[in-house]
Amino acid sequence: MNSTTEIAGLTIRSYVIPTSIDNDDAADFIAMVDVRNRIYREISGSDDEAMTAAELLPNFWADEYTTRHFFVIEMDGVMVGRMGVDLPLEDDSRVAFWIIELIEDVWGLGIGSAAYEIVEQIAREAGRTSLQSWAEHPASDDARLEPPTGFGYVPKDHIARFYLRHGYSLEQVERKSLFDLQGDLGAVERIHGEAAAAAADYEVVQWMLPTPEEFVSGYCVMKERMVTDAPSADMEFDEEVWDEARLRKMEARVLDGNRTQLVTAARHRVSGELCAFNELDLPLDRTLTTSQHDTLVLSDHRGHRLGALVKTAGILRLRELAPDSPRIITWNAEENRPMLSINEELGFYPAAHIGAWKKVLS
Ligand SMILES: CC(C)(COP(=O)(O)OP(=O)(O)OC[C@H]1O[C@@H](n2cnc3c(N)ncnc32)[C@H](O)[C@@H]1OP(=O)(O)O)[C@@H](O)C(=O)NCCC(=O)NCCS
Repeated sequence: MNSTTEIAGLTIRSYVIPTSIDNDDAADFIAMVDVRNRIYREISGSDDEAMTAAELLPNFWADEYTTRHFFVIEMDGVMVGRMGVDLPLEDDSRVAFWIIELIEDVWGLGIGSAAYEIVEQIAREAGRTSLQSWAEHPASDDARLEPPTGFGYVPKDHIARFYLRHGYSLEQVERKSLFDLQGDLGAVERIHGEAAAAAADYEVVQWMLPTPEEFVSGYCVMKERMVTDAPSADMEFDEEVWDEARLRKMEARVLDGNRTQLVTAARHRVSGELCAFNELDLPLDRTLTTSQHDTLVLSDHRGHRLGALVKTAGILRLRELAPDSPRIITWNAEENRPMLSINEELGFYPAAHIGAWKKVLS
């Protein structure tokens, strides 16, 4: 779909997702990644979320779980942003997830609104009624907007006003936190010892992707629960069925981009069941920031300090795997007090507010 809107010089067009960034047709994709990284730097003031084109590419390849639409946004032939719409393919899915990201130089010209028309058109044509999107809201002096959860806030900044103007409501606030990996890990070691003592019925198991066969089914159970059990306020997610094929697809998105992931799990000694896990995503260049992805304790096993156990074991192993990585970045719902308390005790500190926004179409 190509769209040339009424705004002079504006083009919103789809582009080729190459099979390799070395291909002749990869130029748009590579330029898109540069724009992405610039936008994230402008918003956060750091390169913590930067990725190379090679690392990002596998995330754009088609699979049977999601229909994905990608566009670049150009003014007078110069790329100034990107947008994307994801349509999960779970049975009877009503949801759509989207991003519109522009470099700051072109904010406030109506470009985001023009792009948003395409988002809604795609969602309507696919019969999706629950449109959802996340945005980082840099600290500002704007008035505060609070979500119905009562936890956290975002400033009513340009980004928030954009959502409100297009009929969205703020459903949830997430906290982006950072952890200094070059500092003293004494607290992590102490908490790890305490958690291990409190969780004597459990043992830590760790692996790098690809997941060894013996852990595949247990890991799949935990990935399914991640969607249903993590606090999501009124944001809407489809239940997902995870089997080995789906897990291997997820792993390929990491490994084919030359990244890897450390998975730390807690195994119940008697039953052999995997009961808790934590994921740390390592870039190819291990002197860069490490990302913490999912962390979950299965509900039947809460109350044994397993969250602290897997998080601390992950950080301690990470120190060996990536001794020069400066920090860990992670995201948690503001109402997820148990998880935030563990993070704060370990030394994670808040870095930004993320708004989770939703609109229900009639
Ligand atoms: C959020 C974001 C996409 C908004 O895009 P944008 O192009 O700046 O937004 P728009 O210009 O369409 O917003 C409309 C504003 O522009 C003004 N405007 C100027 N010309 C306009 C036009 N022709 N049509 C519509 N609005 C116009 C409107 O008055 C409105 O301002 P107001 O809300 O203060 O009244 C952009 O700021 C951005 O990329 N932010 C960083 C990434 C991000 O947070 N993305 C959010 C979803 S992932």
